[in-house]
Amino acid sequence: MEKISTKGTVRFFNGKDIPLEMHKVKVVQSISLVPVERRLEAIREAGFNSFLLKTNDIFLDMLTDSGTNAQSDTQVSKMFIADESYAGSQSFTRFQESVLEVFGKKFVIPAHQGRAAEHLLSKTFVKEGSVIPTNYHFTTSMAHVQLCGGNFLEIFTDEAMKVKSSFPFKGNMDIAKLEKAIADYGSENIPYIRMEASTNLIGGQPFSMENLKEIRKVADRHGIKIVLDASLVGENVYMIKQREKGYKDASLASILLEMSSLCDIIYFSGRKVSSSRGGAICTNSKEIYDNIKFLVPVYEGFLTYGGIPIKELESMAEGLRETLDEHVVNQSPRYISYMANELDKLGIPVILPGGALGCHVDAGQFLSHIPQKDYPAGALIAAYYIVSGVRGMERGTMSNSRDMDGNDVPADLELMRLAVPRRVYTLSQIEYVIDRLNWLYHNRELVGGLRFIEEPPLLRFFIGRLEPLSDWPQKLAAKYRSDFGDSL
Ligand code: F0G
Repeated sequence: MEKISTKGTVRFFNGKDIPLEMHKVKVVQSISLVPVERRLEAIREAGFNSFLLKTNDIFLDMLTDSGTNAQSDTQVSKMFIADESYAGSQSFTRFQESVLEVFGKKFVIPAHQGRAAEHLLSKTFVKEGSVIPTNYHFTTSMAHVQLCGGNFLEIFTDEAMKVKSSFPFKGNMDIAKLEKAIADYGSENIPYIRMEASTNLIGGQPFSMENLKEIRKVADRHGIKIVLDASLVGENVYMIKQREKGYKDASLASILLEMSSLCDIIYFSGRKVSSSRGGAICTNSKEIYDNIKFLVPVYEGFLTYGGIPIKELESMAEGLRETLDEHVVNQSPRYISYMANELDKLGIPVILPGGALGCHVDAGQFLSHIPQKDYPAGALIAAYYIVSGVRGMERGTMSNSRDMDGNDVPADLELMRLAVPRRVYTLSQIEYVIDRLNWLYHNRELVGGLRFIEEPPLLRFFIGRLEPLSDWPQKLAAKYRSDFGDSL
């Protein structure tokens, strides 16, 4: 007999949709909010790139959820029993068991993080001229495919790029366009189709099980593999349960097993999916496993530790299981949805419906007076840091590499991502984020554009440096000071 589920959400008598936390705080880290004058200096020192800020100048770090989700007491306790052996570690066996239980896959290749898994996969399958259809690219996934001579072909639905939408599955792939791509490029040039769970760069948006089933049928007809990037899979599974017909009463575990059974290869960033470190590739095909595994000792470490401290394998094993606990996995999407809905009520353009990972503000609309060539999303991150001490991440044109001729590639969406790492911030901190964003929206005409002064050729957003096109940062800080007086 099915046990009665203790999961779900608590409804408030006052009718408000408040995300109630199902955890309590045991260990804390102090943070501070430096004055606006220091924030202005700090962003200048960081070359107007939020990656280059130092955390003692940051109040709420909403750069990413990668490696920053809170860990559970069980995860931390499991780290003490780690078997730190170079080869044949028992911790690896426990990690394998967890992967089998959660994804239903027998063969596991550990890697030091998600992009290392992408490196191994690209080296194994991608050749000069390969084409990889995907629901949307991720920065590191694309870089690895391109370094091997291949390219991504993004096949999304028309809904994906609508900022304000009620479409529940903006991460879906357009099946007719996929069929056409296979006809155009030939299945022999398509080593695999890549589906990304909770599609990161379009606002953490999920795909539906129905869509994945359709893709499976197409892939089978043409003998093409499906690779799932499962870095944000827990949230995608949760959103299927919330939004897709027929899954309301299904457990997250059963939804994930069904999803996995439709994919030949699954890889993930342990930093995201399991609140630990590391990453892995898993499959049920011995042939695929054998094709990849010999690269591990060359690039990562031995097959039973994959380049990370073994205690992290223990934490990953536990973290994967906890991903299937609805109270764990729904915390971030519920905060995001709260934030997105509140910002929408204030007229601030945000990606709707709220998805996974973070709340995504549409910088293109927010700063409609700044052309894409002057990086509106980058400018919004810098301006918002100055007025709040909150660090977000640019997910727009700055995050795209230039084309072969050295021209900028304008992003489909200019987004400021405010990540909501799992179980890290409180609702009053989220209220502060909303409040300062509201102030900035009322003062948005003060914000100007940016230009690169130091630009690496690949993944420039990580370490590139920029400067403002005018003295707008000083004017913005002065207005802040005059409106808020001596308040931080
Ligand atoms: N795939 C997706 C969908 C990701 O979001 C990330 C990382 C990776 C792969 C690479 O994993 O960082 O462990 O090497 N995303 C982080 C972010 C960096 O902030 O969105 P990694």
